[in-house]
Amino acid sequence: MNYQWYPGHMTKARRMMQENIKLIDLIIELVDARVPVASRNPDIDELGKGKSRIVLLNKSDLADEGCNKAWMRYFEDRGVFALEVNSKSGAGIKAINNLVQKACAEKIARDRKRGILNRPVRAMVVGIPNVGKSTFINAFAGRACTKTGNKPGVTKGKQWIRLNKSLELLDTPGILWPKFEDNEVGMHLAFIGSMNDEIIVMEELACDLLELLRELYPEAVTGRYGISWESDAGEANSMAVMLEGIARCRRCFLKGENLDLKKAADLLLDDFRSGRLGRLTLERPERQPVPEQENRG
Ligand code: G4P
Repeated sequence: MNYQWYPGHMTKARRMMQENIKLIDLIIELVDARVPVASRNPDIDELGKGKSRIVLLNKSDLADEGCNKAWMRYFEDRGVFALEVNSKSGAGIKAINNLVQKACAEKIARDRKRGILNRPVRAMVVGIPNVGKSTFINAFAGRACTKTGNKPGVTKGKQWIRLNKSLELLDTPGILWPKFEDNEVGMHLAFIGSMNDEIIVMEELACDLLELLRELYPEAVTGRYGISWESDAGEANSMAVMLEGIARCRRCFLKGENLDLKKAADLLLDDFRSGRLGRLTLERPERQPVPEQENRG
């Protein structure tokens, strides 16, 4: 299936982002820990030139723990400050303050040399739609936060949240788009529910997910639905036959004895997205092409 899509409001979002980026020292980039590559923005290196950067592997509670560690190493090996977080529960959030100090060490030292002692680091949260930006800002800012109000001439009416004496956060996150012309990126985003399901043939999406899961986590499927890849999948281990197996197991029937494959597909996707199939990561660092060296900013 073709998973490419072209969101119309991208240009506006990009323009807003470019405007805001001038105001900040640090970019806090959220990615989805289950698909850390597909959920990254391809322009972020260019947009964030000269800025300090932190990558947060959000929704780490839904991703494979071993893979989270591997992705952390992947980013760290490339000189990128990274952290696993769960914005929903708040896990990992406290450690960010320390990381901010590390990521902005050069800027802080530069300020100090110039005699600027108490200027807080200004940060902006960025990420693709649905990656958890609002949830993260709420968790990070918490109840203790105070809006610092407008700062005419400096912030052009932007709202800043003062987190502590050394960190301010722009209260509106930057929305960025993934590499939507890449079919595999689109497919991975469709798996996690970041693409509108209404434009997707769910049975095909389910078959694509089954194919990937057979390779990465075969027992997650067999364990949950009590079907086996060999015997139930039939000739050529067809994923469609597997989906029929799920439909039978979950009693997804249309009128009569006909299987309701759409219902089975929705059920499988829902089980995956909500973590009921287990903590699964669909992208692996060792499969990535050797990327360019990334800057600390
Ligand atoms: P956005 O601003 O980037 O568009 O994303 P938003 O915060 O609205 O979050 C999108 C969905 O992801 C929300 O679920 C939110 O609860 C969930 N989410 C965010 N961070 C995490 C996380 O670390 N772990 C898990 N498991 N989920 C996370 P929703 O179903 O749209 O809303 P709700 O029913 O949870 O309120």
